[in-house]
Amino acid sequence: MNPELINTLSEQELTAIDAELAHVPCKSAAAIDALKIVQEYRGWVSDDSLHAIARHLEMSADELEGIATFYNLVFRRPVGEQVILLCNSVSCWIKGCDKLQRTISRQLGIEMGETTTDKRYTLLPVSCLGDCDHAPAMMIGKTLHHDLTPESIVRLLAGD
Ligand code: FES
Repeated sequence: MNPELINTLSEQELTAIDAELAHVPCKSAAAIDALKIVQEYRGWVSDDSLHAIARHLEMSADELEGIATFYNLVFRRPVGEQVILLCNSVSCWIKGCDKLQRTISRQLGIEMGETTTDKRYTLLPVSCLGDCDHAPAMMIGKTLHHDLTPESIVRLLAGD
């Protein structure tokens, strides 16, 4: 993250957000895309970033915060280089995602919601990733992993 951009949006962010605005009927309809764009550039969406986005979309920061909170893939706290999104919806629950969580916690030394001290990984829960036929599933960064076992998790995290 570039610290100079704290109170404003960068040219690239504005260009990407404005490209989204061209496809929506009102500015607030681009809220999720705008949050995702800023997150892509900065890793997470700070309060200052959220206010800057809200100003650009001519909506209140509270309204945008509500959207960011509802959409749980917008990170409102700093996260590690890689975010592990462990699915905890029904199919994955039945297939033992709790065991996977314990394995990850043991291997990385973090609980759900925490970031490793080397800032490499953040572990977060997520609802269904749409891969229920191959539960349990999780994402590491942008890569979906499925049919997971505690053993495959150990290999994944060791070799990643
Ligand atoms: S319930 Fe986990 S991928 Fe659908």
